[in-house]
Amino acid sequence: MHVTPVDPTGTAAWRRLAELADGFAPDLRGWFAADPERAERLTFDAADLHVDLSKGLVTPEILDALVELARGVGLEERREAMFRGERINVTENRAVLHTALRLPEDATLEVDGVNVVTEVHQALRHMFAFAERVRSGAWTGVTGRRIRTVVNIGIGGSDLGPVMAYEALAPYRTPEIECRFISNIDPTDAARKLADLDPTTTLFIVSSKTFATLETLTNARLCRSWLLDNLRAQRVFSGEDDEAVAKHFVAVSTALDKVAAFGIDPANAFGFWDWVGGRYSVDSTIGTSLAIAIGPERFTEFLGGMHAMDQHFRGTPLERNVPALMGLLNIWYGNFLDAGTHAVLPYSQLLHRFPAYLQQLTMESNGKSVRWDGSPVTTHTGEVFWGEPGTNGQHAFYQLIHQGTHVVPADFIAFANPAYPLKDAHDGRSTDVHELFLSNFFAQTRALAFGKTADEVRAEGAGADQGEAIVAARVFPGNRPTTSIMAPALTPAVLGQLIALYEHITFTQGVVWGIDSFDQWGVELGKQLALQISPAVSGDERAARAQDPSTRALIDYYRTHRK
Ligand code: F6P
Repeated sequence: MHVTPVDPTGTAAWRRLAELADGFAPDLRGWFAADPERAERLTFDAADLHVDLSKGLVTPEILDALVELARGVGLEERREAMFRGERINVTENRAVLHTALRLPEDATLEVDGVNVVTEVHQALRHMFAFAERVRSGAWTGVTGRRIRTVVNIGIGGSDLGPVMAYEALAPYRTPEIECRFISNIDPTDAARKLADLDPTTTLFIVSSKTFATLETLTNARLCRSWLLDNLRAQRVFSGEDDEAVAKHFVAVSTALDKVAAFGIDPANAFGFWDWVGGRYSVDSTIGTSLAIAIGPERFTEFLGGMHAMDQHFRGTPLERNVPALMGLLNIWYGNFLDAGTHAVLPYSQLLHRFPAYLQQLTMESNGKSVRWDGSPVTTHTGEVFWGEPGTNGQHAFYQLIHQGTHVVPADFIAFANPAYPLKDAHDGRSTDVHELFLSNFFAQTRALAFGKTADEVRAEGAGADQGEAIVAARVFPGNRPTTSIMAPALTPAVLGQLIALYEHITFTQGVVWGIDSFDQWGVELGKQLALQISPAVSGDERAARAQDPSTRALIDYYRTHRK
């Protein structure tokens, strides 16, 4: 069903929000003082996530208007359309069913007359059986030795999700097998990741939804040559190439014909479907490296976490619906308070790739200028997502968040229980280091919300000798919006919940703006031009002449300096 997007700026709710934004003077100190229940009222639970929105720049009227806006643009209907498998990815004419990847086996979801849940669970069983064989050593390389390193070759959604989750779930990995990830076409990536590997114990997973991505196919060929050259150089294998490739290469793709053409045995190919977007695919067979690392049981818990968040998003009224509220708050910050960026700051070293993962999820989804009917968007879309784990970020860019001139809404994420509980024995005392760590998490959101006034600075004695200038420099304005997300621990289920949370935040924002959050046409031009430019880079004069003067001069520079 192709529904014309509602222009959000034409709704009464938008006008109300614009009025509220006009002369908006946030006052978190005052708001908390006037309403002792603010923290409680603005804290919500979604599955295992405990989400405190109270340090956001919101009042009950703003939240009411945001929820009215969501209803006005048809968020609830569009959400249902997505879960039902309607073709809401209009420009690619596809259903959007990453939520089907985590439906329990006894669920039913018919799309075009097929129960996709049956197919999903068949694919999972195939992947799990393979993962078990690799983990147990039953699957061996061509010389009969068991696999010790799994190398995932993929980029974008075929890399960022698996790497992020592999890192996040490090405590759950088998120590028997290491995973590495080659993504960049910069030959440094493959060279360095392969440098110390033993070909007899290495398994490659070529992960590509389309099996047409330049980086991935180039890297797959590099790895195949590396495998064959090194097996022969070590004189451990003298059979046919195909025999070695069959034992050391498997593939994940929706294009199984192309997998076969590459020389990978179709029996060792794991499929998925065009209704799973690349950046929404970590929970499909694209997660094969992760399934090998953490095992089927943990992977199933990961899927269960995602499903729990799906149920929350689908079944909770918007007034208490965490992904919807967080998405709507982002609309408030971006469209009404001019925040162009959004920081995600995990207080968990294990989540160090989470911001990078979210950059693709959010920016490839919502960095659009036209709506799903082809008409121009009517307001700003897609903010820039970025971040680093705390406390590292505190010593780098937090200065700007605390005292800069830009509004930077920030999500702070922390866990009550550490994966590695360590004590610091110091001066006859023993300190739980996780508590020191979390003290920083609590302190930062408090400092951002409430700041420090000039009087408070003076009361500390600052400025007494050096004058008022030093006082001004030490004032913290406060009223910097944050959301605190906590959970008992970073388990596979909780990681799944976090991922699904941000998927649905992204969806919510996309629906408000009326955009197709599931296509990515904006990545195509650069890919096309790279293929056109490549002959010029290799010295083809005609191709060089076809370039603009700047590009031609840069290529000349390259050719002059390349040894
Ligand atoms: O170029 C962008 C993109 O299409 C992403 O959307 C996708 O995740 C990535 O490339 C990799 O694509 P594939 O899995 O088809 O190799």
